[in-house]
Parts: sequence; structure tokens; C-alpha cells
Amino acid sequence: MGQVVVQTENLTKAYDGFTAVDGLNLRIEEGEVYGFLGPNGAGKTTTLLMLLGLTEPTSGTAWVCGHDSTREPLKVKRIVGYLPERVGFYEDMTARQNLRYTAELNSMPRGEAEEKIGGLLNTVGLSDVADHQVSTYSRGMKQRLGIADIWVKEPKLAFLDEPTTGIDPQGVEDILDLMVSMSRKKITIIFCSHLLHQVQKICGRVGILAKGRLVAEGSMDRLGGEAAGGGRYRIEAEVERRSRGLVDSIRKVKGVRDVESSGKSLLISCDKDLRGEISRIIVAGESQLLGIRIEEYNLEKIYKRYSKEA
Ligand SMILES: Nc1ncnc2c1ncn2[C@@H]1O[C@H](COP(=O)(O)OP(=O)(O)OP(=O)(O)O)[C@@H](O)[C@H]1O
Ligand SMILES: [Mg+2]
Repeated sequence: MGQVVVQTENLTKAYDGFTAVDGLNLRIEEGEVYGFLGPNGAGKTTTLLMLLGLTEPTSGTAWVCGHDSTREPLKVKRIVGYLPERVGFYEDMTARQNLRYTAELNSMPRGEAEEKIGGLLNTVGLSDVADHQVSTYSRGMKQRLGIADIWVKEPKLAFLDEPTTGIDPQGVEDILDLMVSMSRKKITIIFCSHLLHQVQKICGRVGILAKGRLVAEGSMDRLGGEAAGGGRYRIEAEVERRSRGLVDSIRKVKGVRDVESSGKSLLISCDKDLRGEISRIIVAGESQLLGIRIEEYNLEKIYKRYSKEA
């Protein structure tokens, strides 16, 4: 088991009697990319602010790398990078100057900082405009600079709150790649987003928050399985004639989790794409295969199911 980077215990925040975050228990390990999801107003940003020590919990505790975010906010700030929903930079300074400033704040030796900053500007694709004033940057360019700014610090933990909103498709891909590279360098990432296909692409685990409570948490496979009572894929086969024997033979196929039937349809829950094998069994069983299609459980479906429950 890896080092625990984020831990919360019954973390709760109430505003004038309204509970924005309600008894939250999180545990996130080093190098994880954790997708933190939930509808508008679910409490995601509030949770991040408590972890950062920027707002005090009403009750419960938040720790980052073993430091209490409320009692040791300075220690926590030193090891956390935060890309807020709206990034703010010194607009009259260049990208390079902004990053230099961050390096100075984090007492990085000058020579080391210069080298690092040059490399990072290259990584985030801003080398050509590194010496232009940030006021001339587009939103996507500022977002890239935001990621470089976090990286300069070499934090243990990075909070990225909607980092890809308003970014063009190539930019999104670049930002997601950067996040994966950060996690390979053992930077733990909490990725808040409403763009579920992006989350699905890079997150090992997700947590779904609804009305301040964690309603589901786990890997995509696990949540998909739970939401569907079965495997990751669902195959729907339409057969001309359905028999008990046919259903039993399909059940025996390796990777099949469950078979349901209704009318001429067979609904097969399985762990991989077994369309070929299932088609062969149906035909060999002297039935006609009228149609077959496969659906993969995606985060969209998982999310809908759990956020409705709350
Ligand atoms: N300073 C505040 N005072 C009063 N209520 C607040 C304050 N900050 C947040 N809230 C309320 O707490 C709830 C959770 O807000 P939060 O910003 O954490 O949601 P979120 O999950 O980040 O939503 P979004 O997806 O829209 O960013 C909302 O109902 C919000 O109105
Ligand atoms: Mg938010």
C-alpha cells in the first residue's frame, strides 16, 4: 500500500445551517489520479478548500500527508498545488516571470529554478510565448501556465478544479497527458470535473459526491460492476428462439457474469467483448441470431445512477 496523501474523517462544513459537506471520509494514496465528481453545488470545491486549509471545517478533520489542514495550514500549503476554477496570474508579467515568482516563493535556488522553468514551459507547450505578457494569453494558454505553475513547486498533491473547461480538443489531450505525467512523478492528483469521458480516461478511482455526501467510490470497473450487477460490458443478443439450454450454455462461457432473458432478447453481462463466442453458441444451438450489440459501462451511466440515488 502506498503512502496516504489525503485523508478526511467525518469532514463537515455547514454554512448557516446548510450542510455543504457532510461527514466525508476520503483516503487517497500517493500517485493516484482521483476523479472527484458531483453535480453543481455538491461540495467539491468546499472540500478542496478545507483540505487546503483555506476554510475551516465545522467538524471533522482533513489531513494532507499527515498534516492537519486546519492546524498546520502553512505546512500543507507548501506541499499542495491548487489550480482553481479561475486561474489568476500577474497579467503584466510574462509566463516566465510568473513561474520565477512562484519558484522564489517556494525558496527554490535561482539556477535550479531557471532550468526547471525552461523545461516546464516546453512541456506545457508555451516555450514560444514564454516571454509574452500573460495579459495576451488565451484561456487555454493560462490553463497550461497554471499547470506549469503547480509543477514548479513539485507538490505532493495537486488539486485541479475543472482544468479543461473551455480548452480546445488538442489542448484537453495535452492537459490530460500532463496530468498523467505528473502522477508518474508521484504527484497525487485530485481532478474535479463534469467532463466524465475525460475523467474516465485518466482516473484510477473516482468518488461521486451528492449533496455533500460520498455516494459512490471506487475504480471504474468496480463501480460499473456494482451499477450493473455484473461485468463491464453488456451484450444484447436478439434470437429467433430462446431456450433454457441456450441460456445455460452462454452462462458457462468464461467471462460471462450473468444472463437475463426477456422475449427474444438475451442480456449478457460480461467482462470482455464476447460477441463472437456468443454468436457461435446461438447458431450452434440451432437458433437464429437476429442481432447483437455491445455496450460498455461508462462513467456517464455510473454517474447518472449514483447521483440520482442521493
Ligand atoms: N462561502 C459560502 N457561503 C455560503 N454557502 C456556500 C459558500 N461556499 C459554498 N457554499 C454552498 O455550498 C454548496 C457547495 O458548494 P461547492 O462550491 O463546494 O460546490 P461544487 O461541488 O464545487 O459545485 P460546482 O460543480 O458548481 O463547482 C453550494 O450549495 C454552495 O452554495
Ligand atoms: Mg466547484
